[in-house]
Amino acid sequence: VDESVPPETLESRTLDGLAKYIKEGRAKRIVVMTGAGISTSAGIPDFRSPDTGLYANLARLNLPYAEAVFDISFFRENPLPFYTLAHELYPGKYRPTVTHSFIRLLHDKGHLLKLFTQNIDCLEREAGVPGTKIIEAHGSFARQSCIECKASYPDEDMKQHIAAQTIPRCLRESCGGLVKPEIVFFGEQLPAEFFMSRGLPAQADLCIVLGTSLTVQPFASLPSMCSEGTPRLLINQEVVGGLGSRPDDVLLIGDCDTGVRRLADACGWRDELETLWANT
Ligand code: APR
Repeated sequence: VDESVPPETLESRTLDGLAKYIKEGRAKRIVVMTGAGISTSAGIPDFRSPDTGLYANLARLNLPYAEAVFDISFFRENPLPFYTLAHELYPGKYRPTVTHSFIRLLHDKGHLLKLFTQNIDCLEREAGVPGTKIIEAHGSFARQSCIECKASYPDEDMKQHIAAQTIPRCLRESCGGLVKPEIVFFGEQLPAEFFMSRGLPAQADLCIVLGTSLTVQPFASLPSMCSEGTPRLLINQEVVGGLGSRPDDVLLIGDCDTGVRRLADACGWRDELETLWANT
């Protein structure tokens, strides 16, 4: 690090350097990796922020430990805590943030290779990122099925149960198993398409990590799969996942909506971004 340059100048220079790299057309295969931090400004709590995070506020569900709410063996024993929470988290009540719109803008401009998200709120889709560009590594509420016989379960019935906070059961008489949205619980496998796409970070010419603690594997390993020499940008309230360890890493530590606006400004995309978001 050039000691003679004050840190903020270094940061803005690297941010400006990154914007230059993008504007010169050298970032045509951007891989974006997101977590709950990009949806907090939409009103959806993240998981691990000390006071506001979901795991700090589940005491009312008297769980043995916070992550039990998303644990498949606990769910089998007691599905009620999950369905109480699902009522609060169910998509449809929230609007995408300007960070979601920034990812959509990257796609519109032909720079987005793939978005890997850990979020289950479907806000990326609602922001207009095409499904073909999204890997929902931890699943989503988009579909639901019986955890015993795997039979799919009708969307309308699910919406009614979520609204009423009641427990949906498999419609097959001989089964009657618990129905669960296809969210990846602790103890379950990630979707096959996650593993099929794990070669993409190595093909990226820019990696952008937004709003995640990078604490849950195997998602947390994605940024390290980028080739040496590929710039990696972290926009997050805290330094995570070894970002900053490589010479081409750029760290924007702070709010992600503020960070994406700064990058949009540097790229000359700010008006486009605000218009896109205003119409979402
Ligand atoms: N701007 C920038 N960063 C933010 C903001 C914000 N507005 N809000 C929160 N953050 C940061 C937090 O500081 C934290 O580093 O986002 C990160 C959120 O981390 P987590 O709460 O752990 O969420 P996430 O990384 O998505 O969790 C991963 O854990 O429980 C499982 O399956 C669940 O997908 C989830 C996975």
